[in-house]
Amino acid sequence: MITFSALNLNKYTINELTEIKSTFYQQGFVLIDTHSINAKDKISPVANALNLGEAATTAYNKKYFDYKLTADNMAVIGDLPNRKGKINHEGFESNNAQGLHVDGTIEPLGSIQTSLLYCKQPAKFGGESIVFNLIGAINHLAKNDLSLIQPLFDPNALTRASTYEGINESHTGPILGYHLETKRLIARFAINITCQWQEGFDKVPGLQRTIKHLFEMAKEDSPYTAKFPLQSGTLMVMDNSRICHGRAAYIDCTENPRTMIRGIYSQLPS
Ligand SMILES: [Fe+2]
Repeated sequence: MITFSALNLNKYTINELTEIKSTFYQQGFVLIDTHSINAKDKISPVANALNLGEAATTAYNKKYFDYKLTADNMAVIGDLPNRKGKINHEGFESNNAQGLHVDGTIEPLGSIQTSLLYCKQPAKFGGESIVFNLIGAINHLAKNDLSLIQPLFDPNALTRASTYEGINESHTGPILGYHLETKRLIARFAINITCQWQEGFDKVPGLQRTIKHLFEMAKEDSPYTAKFPLQSGTLMVMDNSRICHGRAAYIDCTENPRTMIRGIYSQLPS
């Protein structure tokens, strides 16, 4: 089970695969120093070393936000003049804080298992990463009262929807489930503007009570959350169906805007 106690924020080189994998499975994320990777694309060599397969860009991003994607299906995140489209992507282009979420807004539970986030250029001020030990929090609730987690398995539990005008896309599904292939308990959750909670609260008995507990445990001073800056050249590997991530608001530097590059994958590190 994932724990954030004795948090390991060491930055491993790509050769330290044993440490990378054990840290990933122990705390749901791990940091990698990419300076020793002699390639412009720092994400693909990490994805290859961890046997993640090809980047699994969602149909949603491909359809509406292709101007944010590289030829290798990586999303380029930042207020970048050369990557502007018709729709201003809140998460990708604004410098507002981004609420906790798993990647793949309208993807079913378990479809995006690993997310790689590479920091090319940090913000001038702020923009720290925030992570939430979602599966640890759920496990804590289960230990106290097993009935608390029962509503999370309901197929009507969570609707996440696109928030952009003219895009009518959403997905409703369980928050918690069992991944047959990996035999793991996995979760799909967010505390951001993509969530439409009311329908789930109306349809699923007990859901609102459980979500209230999870909201409490996701607060910044909780032992289930951590906040830290990513430096230039650092890549974070995240277990996208066990932890949530978000970021603090930031102030940009016009000449060198904050730039992050993200790859999402259907496989887990092996
Ligand atoms: Fe994200």
